[in-house]
Amino acid sequence: MSDNISSAASSEPVATREYLDALRGAERLHWRTAPLLNRPTAQERGFDMPFPFGWFVVCYSDELSRGQVKALRYFGRDLVLWRGEDGKPRMLDAYCRHLGANMSFGGRVRGNLLECPFHAWRYDGDGTVQEILYAKVVPTQARRECVRHWPTEEKNHFVWAWYHPDGVAPLWDVEAFPETSDANWTDYEKHEWLVYCPLQTTAENGVDVAHFRYIHGTASYPDWKVTIDGHRRSASVSARMQTPRGMVDGTIAYGVVGPGQPWTRFSGICETLLVTGCTPVEKDVLHLRFAFTQQRTDKEGPRAGVARAIIEDICRQLDQDKVIWDRQHHEAQPLLCDGDGPIPMFREFFSQFYAEWHRDSGPEAVASRRVASRAEG
Ligand code: FES
Ligand SMILES: [Fe+2]
Repeated sequence: MSDNISSAASSEPVATREYLDALRGAERLHWRTAPLLNRPTAQERGFDMPFPFGWFVVCYSDELSRGQVKALRYFGRDLVLWRGEDGKPRMLDAYCRHLGANMSFGGRVRGNLLECPFHAWRYDGDGTVQEILYAKVVPTQARRECVRHWPTEEKNHFVWAWYHPDGVAPLWDVEAFPETSDANWTDYEKHEWLVYCPLQTTAENGVDVAHFRYIHGTASYPDWKVTIDGHRRSASVSARMQTPRGMVDGTIAYGVVGPGQPWTRFSGICETLLVTGCTPVEKDVLHLRFAFTQQRTDKEGPRAGVARAIIEDICRQLDQDKVIWDRQHHEAQPLLCDGDGPIPMFREFFSQFYAEWHRDSGPEAVASRRVASRAEG
């Protein structure tokens, strides 16, 4: 952390304040997921990175009941998700290999199989056809995976899908958080956004130390010690936090498992766990979900005001970042200064999730596609 940031007086969040002040109440909520019209193309904005591989949220568990079929669009593809009678979620590409019907519109669950609405071919969750009622034999090709399947998991009240462009099986597990199944903790308070940039851009925000002052108006930035361990990144810090009861000492810990499972724990003031879903929709569209759970004694007791303020503050910060992210250009070779955070280190970490970069080229080419620039001076 640079000294001039830590010692600076509190700064106004100048860049975004006017813009957000004009959006109040319901209007602000609408803005969070509204389409952003007339934006430049992803290519013009320099978003040439592929979708990263890993586990990603595709819906909340309570959005998919037994026998329900859902149309989804993530990773630049149309997808169909259903919950079988056995309670397990399954996900395929949406288009039937027979004559191409979109199975997410009118498809029905039969037992644990998905029935296409056009000629009723029935698919298992592994993308194979199990039954064709009007045929004597299921064609050999259809008995293999003929529609792409996506491994799913259900944890922390979310349905997760494993995305890998080459069909590689999951390389790690979805992390489970004990708070999410503990009766002493609240049900989720849910918030969501569509932001018009790649996941790498939003993930980089945490190591971009200088923006905290200019966008979020913080007087100082906590001195995170980031630990990187394979596909995991984590950090913990003691922090002074502004609350309705004045400044309070607390601890913030955050981590990311792969590119798609960030979590944050706030303790000391009001025990809060934030589980984040961040799922790419298109190269320039990202679906963000914030799911908060808090200890009931905090949320429903005398500290309820503080509990609410913590959530409001985190969501306000996301709104502030969105104003920038929606219009940001990806600088593959950014000009950095000595007050910037460890952005090159972060990009090196994140590039491990770009399978295409590793597939198409040797290690030198991968390295040259990462940020080569270093802080000057
Ligand atoms: S298009 Fe799906 S069964 Fe014919
Ligand atoms: Fe931010």
